[in-house]
Amino acid sequence: MVNLFRTQFVKSAPSKKDLLTDRKQVVFLGKSNVGKSTLLNAVCNNRNLAKTSSTPGRTQMLNYFDVEGRFYLVDAPGYGYYSDSKLDFTEMMEDYLSLGPKKIKRAYILLDSRRKITVEDKVCINMFYNKGISIRIVYTKTDKINQKERSAAEKDALAVLPDTKILWTSSEKKIGIDYLRTDIADALE
Ligand code: GTP
Ligand code: MG
Repeated sequence: MVNLFRTQFVKSAPSKKDLLTDRKQVVFLGKSNVGKSTLLNAVCNNRNLAKTSSTPGRTQMLNYFDVEGRFYLVDAPGYGYYSDSKLDFTEMMEDYLSLGPKKIKRAYILLDSRRKITVEDKVCINMFYNKGISIRIVYTKTDKINQKERSAAEKDALAVLPDTKILWTSSEKKIGIDYLRTDIADALE
């Protein structure tokens, strides 16, 4: 199985010419502050790998992480947050999506388990879905919800993507992390 524990930062891609197209990859997407960078650190067992922050908009570029010198994990900038930088999420993702399903082996769409799916989440899901890229819905921060909220979240996700696989995670309580590791490994190999 692909070993994620030695994953290392490679580079940030501020524009199209910086995108890394040479390897298979999986990408973490989601609204700003949903917990993408924290989850990436949890699956790699290294809390200093991707920068995390309680202030939304911390990750402003695509960040590439090397896995075994063979694959990339990609930490995407969060949408739904407009800083004074010129970043346009949709535009950047269109460039990224031109890699297609042969290189982008899976898109992990992270959703905060306490919140409803937004229009922006749906736009993001559709962008990847329309390219034929494998998608997983990943609920984050499940340490904060009860069973009733979990059922509501599940219903919400299935209304958007009826056949999708849903992963339940908490980086804080280390819930669903091992499962996600296996899922990433399966996608890459
Ligand atoms: P951007 O880079 O701004 O798009 O944000 P992000 O999606 O990378 O979020 P990040 O990982 O920086 O985490 C945002 C906040 O959520 C931080 O304060 C984290 O500590 C918190 N957080 C992340 N995962 C969890 C979790 O599993 N449980 C709880 N309770 N908090 C979490
Ligand atoms: Mg981040």
